Amino acid sequence: MSRVRIFLLIGDPVKRTLSPAMFNAIFERLRLNCVYVAVEVPAKFLADAITGVRAMGISGLNVTIPHKIRVMNLLDELDESASLVGAVNTIKNQRGKLIGYNTDGEGALRSLEKTAGSVRGRRVVLLGAGGAARAIGFSVAKAGAELTIANRTMPRAKALASDIERKLGTPVRVVPLRSNLLKKTLKTAELLINATSVGMYPNTDQTLVTSDMIHREMTVYDIVYKPLETRLLREARRAGAKAIDGLGMLVHQGALSFKIWTGKHAPVKVMELAARRELKRWNT
Ligand code: ATR
Repeated sequence: MSRVRIFLLIGDPVKRTLSPAMFNAIFERLRLNCVYVAVEVPAKFLADAITGVRAMGISGLNVTIPHKIRVMNLLDELDESASLVGAVNTIKNQRGKLIGYNTDGEGALRSLEKTAGSVRGRRVVLLGAGGAARAIGFSVAKAGAELTIANRTMPRAKALASDIERKLGTPVRVVPLRSNLLKKTLKTAELLINATSVGMYPNTDQTLVTSDMIHREMTVYDIVYKPLETRLLREARRAGAKAIDGLGMLVHQGALSFKIWTGKHAPVKVMELAARRELKRWNT
């Protein structure tokens, strides 16, 4: 039998993660001699952990909060997906060379386009300007959407907008959260994406947008998946809009990581079922 290939998720905390369930389900289904483990790595040990990855010949990693940005300096090479966004969520160990990628944006775009169709030429409002919003903003703008960013901290929204404009050459608007300008922008928006953590467990009664700001022709996409049914998605349904939960993004970003590591297509249905099973386990 071949040597077992080890894949890790590093972050802090990593307690409630669906990734081990998703990846180990694929490994089992495809009969790959691989294992995926979540490891809590405090920020002060990040460099040591990456040295350990090299020393032990770990095959690949997912990287989550708070290491997505700092890990970039510890790698040998960055793929364009990571250098554009300025963050890494996937690392491939290619015969000792560590290469950083970012699959968050492409994962979100894939799951979005699967359910809502192409974003090309569509008016998209993105809530947030943090790590997740950066990845999604870049991929949505790259796919040809007309993008407006709304964020609590305006300088962060402006920085993301100008970064996208500079690197991709597409114009991006910025509006303040909780403003009449946001309400007005939403009237003609076709797609609303929440890429903030608002509404995530335990603050499940929170939302940045309510049903009176949503119209029936809109698609509302929430990247939060704890819980799957967020307050924002309930508000969207109340307004008669289409609501898409965050599980698809998680599955597709994972499927893209799997492709990077193994060159194989991931059975996304297997991943989704495993993730749903794990979510149910948490709730019971
Ligand atoms: P991630 O990498 O998961 O995106 P992050 O970089 O900390 O995490 O970004 C969190 C996002 O959620 C930010 O856009 C943040 O807004 P600020 O830039 O103003 O901090 C947003 N966010 C978090 N809590 C919020 C709240 N209570 N109200 C509005 N926005 C919030």
